[in-house]
Amino acid sequence: MLSYRHSFHAGNHADVLKHSILMYVLQYMNRKEKPYVYIDTHAGAGVYDVLGQQAQKTGEYLDGIARLLNQKQPTTDFLKPYTDLIASFNSGQNLHYYPGSPAIAQRLLRPSDRLILTELHGADAANLRDSLGRDRRVYISQEDGLKHLKAILPPPEKRAVVLIDPSYEIKTDYDLVIRAIQQAVQRFATGTYLLWYPVINRSATESFIAELVKCQIPDMWRLELCVEADNNDRGMTGSGMILINPPYSLAGDATESMAVLHQRLAQDMGQGGTILQRLTEE
Ligand SMILES: C[S@@+](CC[C@H](N)C(=O)[O-])C[C@H]1O[C@@H](n2cnc3c(N)ncnc32)[C@H](O)[C@@H]1O
Repeated sequence: MLSYRHSFHAGNHADVLKHSILMYVLQYMNRKEKPYVYIDTHAGAGVYDVLGQQAQKTGEYLDGIARLLNQKQPTTDFLKPYTDLIASFNSGQNLHYYPGSPAIAQRLLRPSDRLILTELHGADAANLRDSLGRDRRVYISQEDGLKHLKAILPPPEKRAVVLIDPSYEIKTDYDLVIRAIQQAVQRFATGTYLLWYPVINRSATESFIAELVKCQIPDMWRLELCVEADNNDRGMTGSGMILINPPYSLAGDATESMAVLHQRLAQDMGQGGTILQRLTEE
């Protein structure tokens, strides 16, 4: 039984990190004419109403995307396409809708590219279909995203961006994700993989990263943004992305933006911090 609904969390600091990196990667893929496929294993509902009951109950977006959009200070070249895209889903400065990863990808992909989206929750799979509308490039299925991923790799395009963004509702999800990544890379070593993880308990996070490093997958990176100091009793204090085969320019281009994100999104007098780390060599 799935209880997680992303509508409570859409636009929070974790989405800001995840979606700004996703956009950077997709823009980089668009530089080459050759088509590619975008695979989103845990797609969510597509577009979220941040004025709706669920987002209003937590108000998480207020300490995430709203802080970035409301500030007058210029943002970085890395972040600007992301904030512009979020603004384009809204009118003026009034934040009403926040696009999730599938809706962001739908805007960025070209006519010859494809989107393959899996979402296990029935209501969110239906919302996803409604949000994305009729689009010949998009294939949506309601099933387990990690099993489906194994079945569709390698893709015929031989170019792919894979976003793995689980809700980690069950402890075993961490092991399942590691196994799925290993299998995916065995089948399709040249894909670009983006894996999101939460920081809830620092030692558990470091063990998870250590397990990933043990897989010896080449060219693996870690980008992490914590908006609060580590604290095992406060829930999610930050989150990170594991990137495999990212654009060569990402680390250099993201450095300043990670600091800017921390400066603007950190709670409690700038606690927390950022990590930008190469985990394995090419
Ligand atoms: C963090 S949310 C996804 C957010 C989305 N990727 C975004 O960035 O906008 C995780 C989603 O995974 C779904 N989910 C949970 N287990 C799943 C599974 N085994 N396969 C596919 N989807 C799953 C949940 O219902 C939830 O909508």
